[in-house]
Amino acid sequence: MRILFLTRSFNSLTQRLCLELAALGHEVAIELDIADAVTIEAVALYRPALIVAPFLKRAIPEQVWRDTVCLVVHPGIVADRGPSALDWAIAEGEREWGVTVLQAQAEMDAGPVWAAQTFAMRAATKSSLYRNEVSDAAARAVVAAVRRFGEEVEAGAEAGAAPRPEAAGAPARGRWRPLMAQADRQIHWQQDDTQTILRKIRAADGTPGVLDRLFDTPCHLFDAHPETLAQRHEPGRVIGRRNEAVLRATIDGAVWIGHVRRADQDGSFKLPTALAFPAQTANLPESQIAIDAPADASGYREIWYEARGGVGYLHFPFHNGAMSTAQCERLTAALRFALAQPPRVLVLFGGADFWSNGIHLNVIEAADSPADESWRNINAIDDLTLTLIEATKRVIIAAMQGNAGAGGVFMALAADQVWARRSVVLNPHYKNMGNLYGSEYWTYLLPRRLKSVSPGDVMKHRLPVSAMHAAQTGLVDAVFGDSAEEFVDMVRARATALAASAELPVLLQNKQQQRRIDEARKPLAEYREEELAHMRRNFYGFDPSYHIARSNFVHRVAPSWTPRHLAVHRRFNDTGWS
Ligand code: COA
Repeated sequence: MRILFLTRSFNSLTQRLCLELAALGHEVAIELDIADAVTIEAVALYRPALIVAPFLKRAIPEQVWRDTVCLVVHPGIVADRGPSALDWAIAEGEREWGVTVLQAQAEMDAGPVWAAQTFAMRAATKSSLYRNEVSDAAARAVVAAVRRFGEEVEAGAEAGAAPRPEAAGAPARGRWRPLMAQADRQIHWQQDDTQTILRKIRAADGTPGVLDRLFDTPCHLFDAHPETLAQRHEPGRVIGRRNEAVLRATIDGAVWIGHVRRADQDGSFKLPTALAFPAQTANLPESQIAIDAPADASGYREIWYEARGGVGYLHFPFHNGAMSTAQCERLTAALRFALAQPPRVLVLFGGADFWSNGIHLNVIEAADSPADESWRNINAIDDLTLTLIEATKRVIIAAMQGNAGAGGVFMALAADQVWARRSVVLNPHYKNMGNLYGSEYWTYLLPRRLKSVSPGDVMKHRLPVSAMHAAQTGLVDAVFGDSAEEFVDMVRARATALAASAELPVLLQNKQQQRRIDEARKPLAEYREEELAHMRRNFYGFDPSYHIARSNFVHRVAPSWTPRHLAVHRRFNDTGWS
């Protein structure tokens, strides 16, 4: 079936749904929701059998939904309506939530229901729920709705959705709820306990954050983690820092605030807290924690190591998967620590939401010289990647629990094995960020893995790929695990078996030998020098594309047209989806 995706942005959910439908043999094109006339033009050009709207902030033009069935994905249970569905569900402590696929009609979120799925809520940020439970439920619901639509069209019946449960007399728990305002989100430091504060910040994280005051400055709070303290402090007071996060007292403990967006400056964007408030945080007492401290030692750890059953595990759940120079340096130090421990199998777990999205574009944007900071950051991630490649006395596994993009994907290829959760979406390309050439030793790491495609094919593709497709091309070695827990359990079981297997010494011997051969053929330093020569031009050269693309990305500049690699209906050569 020919399906047009109409969406405000090509976000993670849209990417996932496109890949799910393409894998079922559907032909998919994307149009960003820019203006009614442009949408109407896209429908006329593509003539889709069906329109799917995974992420819209305004109504679809009547001319479009009257002629073509439009399936809107709403991140709420049946009969729930309104623009802040997940925010309210988190804030009100819903235990079960859902996704509803309904047909667009005059009234927003009020059309007939095509499919609905529910899931158990988890204590997590809105973005994390969106990227995991909502995306999984939406994938199931959209696939079911599209299948039903196809069957009805094939049978010659007029495609029609089920009536809404309330219309059929069934009680519906869902209801209309307004846009959640900052007044609804407000933190009352003198009354709210730690859990309430966490819930409020999580309901607004990634966007818009909770408007509050920090260091007497209005700002939005993000990336909150609980802390227990033996001693009570004045609620709301900042009492310490750990790396770039600050610790704020609550009535019954404290919360770490990892990221903020200042509200006193025009064009501000989300930054690690200490970078947004350098002077105010400079002299705060630093509270460090050992990288291998037991799991319950603190509510906030950016990087930690654990060893079990002969396997070492390194976790690095950086906010949004972005890795600044300082974070890359800390992770390299942690990696060296892990490599010095006895286990000969090391699993790199990344974070639960993202494996890694490469260099930290927001931190770069905030620097006095973004070009210099880009240069420092790419060198720091290269140092990390080099440490991985040269770790020939350990078998290293990159275990992707969450999505990865750009340099984050290529850094993973420095591991001996890449395992990915089934629902993971990869963006193994740099070009979308202003034609960046890329580094992370990709010119060495990528060609040696690929089976059915060339490095050029991967780099030029510009589109996301599913974990399954990545396994077919050789980017990924194994794909398994339907849920996050299942993936983690299976990784642990496989890694433990590998550590105990008689094969391990042979694997290590082969690895050392291969590294020697590769180094003799072409030293790693040469790959790095060649890549960085391109990157130097990207950062310091005449062409400003990278700086413009980064600035647009960080400042959330809405696109004024749909990029041609997405809008297949607007171009002649179609390389298609995979
Ligand atoms: N640096 C800083 N922030 C990043 C980032 C990066 N490299 N990659 C993602 N983010 C942030 C986004 O700004 C967004 O922030 P928010 O929580 O404030 O909204 C959040 O992570 C999620 O990103 P989003 O784009 O909404 O997620 P997605 O799943 O829809 O898309 C990508 C994933 C990877 C396609 C997209 O984030 C991307 O293109 N990232 C840039 C990758 C890159 O070019 N890295 C630099 C070269 S190595």
